[in-house]
Amino acid sequence: MRSEELFKESLNYFPGGANSPVRAGVKPYPFFTKSAYGPYIVTEEGKKLIDYVMGYGPLILGHRPDYVLDRVKEQLDFGWLYGTPNENELMLAKKIIGYIKPGGMIRFVNSGTEATMTAVRLARGYTGRKLLLKFDGCYHGSHDSVLVRAGSAATEYGTPNSNGVPEELAKLTLIAKYNDIASVEEIFRKAGDEIAGVIVEPVIGNMGVIKPEVEFLRGLRKLSNRYKSLLIFDEVITGFRISMQGAQGYYGIEADIVTLGKIIGGGFPIGAVVSSKEIMETLTPTGNVFNAGTFNAHPVSMVAGLATLEEMEEENSIAKAAKAAKSIEEGLADIGRKRFTINRVESMMQIFFTTSDVRNADDARKADKRKYSELHKLLLTKGVFIPPSQFETIFTSSVHYDDVIEYTIEKIKESLAEL
Ligand SMILES: Cc1ncc(COP(=O)(O)O)c(C=O)c1O
Repeated sequence: MRSEELFKESLNYFPGGANSPVRAGVKPYPFFTKSAYGPYIVTEEGKKLIDYVMGYGPLILGHRPDYVLDRVKEQLDFGWLYGTPNENELMLAKKIIGYIKPGGMIRFVNSGTEATMTAVRLARGYTGRKLLLKFDGCYHGSHDSVLVRAGSAATEYGTPNSNGVPEELAKLTLIAKYNDIASVEEIFRKAGDEIAGVIVEPVIGNMGVIKPEVEFLRGLRKLSNRYKSLLIFDEVITGFRISMQGAQGYYGIEADIVTLGKIIGGGFPIGAVVSSKEIMETLTPTGNVFNAGTFNAHPVSMVAGLATLEEMEEENSIAKAAKAAKSIEEGLADIGRKRFTINRVESMMQIFFTTSDVRNADDARKADKRKYSELHKLLLTKGVFIPPSQFETIFTSSVHYDDVIEYTIEKIKESLAEL
């Protein structure tokens, strides 16, 4: 098998044989991808799989949609890196600000990690405070301040607190329990005057999917106001996926800072920080909170992002992607509850092998992750690719049409019978 050979060779070059931990998570070896189109990914062996990973979230229009492809090709003819401003970044900024924070400002960076790193620095710089409050199981990328009780691969590999993050720094990140406003209140009561910001995934997508209780999000808003801390919604996943206004619009709660990534780059590297003019102007060059980047506002990412958002407006893609996930949920309803719990918000969903509710990271950890892993393996043999880890999200796109969904439901049912 070519994937097996390539993986063996990769083990000599990359720690664990891959460049991001979850990619190495398929046992005994991950398949290597040759190409992808629409809802499909094609392996090195030529096997076509229905993809529910979708690049871990960015590809809401499916793989290489024509409209985005044409615009990217067009851009390549004009060059792909200038180190100067370019009109496309202004166009993408206007489009994003129009939905996320009318009247606000944006800084484009290259990844969700850079976005949350910049947002945390901005909150600290703006408030002059040091502490950050985050939630057990929320993942905000791979920088030091947020690698404390982190979800995603950090949980899968048992290192929610990464080695290499100095204890002195980790101590500045306080941890509360998701959907438990009392745990947040208690921390604020003790240290409220020193908390620069509260960072939260408004829907968790890195412990599987965990829905927020609206009262919990409202409570975060109220406490942040009371103690003059900044509320940071990490919308790297939810931005332009659960609504064009992201979780802020979906739940009717306004954050002080929003971080974005994934969809806004149409599958090319991107991250963004969005906030009010006053807060954003504390960033360099107007202020003293430093951020810079050779690849910030990369011309190809700008064009791909703009084309993606335009296509989404035109095609109502959020609703189409959500319909696909809802159909899967409904298709499994007759066997559900007795064997598993499905959490879904629009086109984000995950299956937990537990019959209890999954409301926080502890609940997610209690689900039978071995069974999930078995399901993943069985589905792969039947042509369906769901994330290899329980602590990731099943994403649907606007091109997961009915026939693909029906096939998927049938294969999940078959696999459940074999588990
Ligand atoms: C909510 C959230 N924030 C931040 C990140 C980090 O983004 P990136 O992987 O682009 O650095 C992720 C990545 O999955 C994420 O899900």
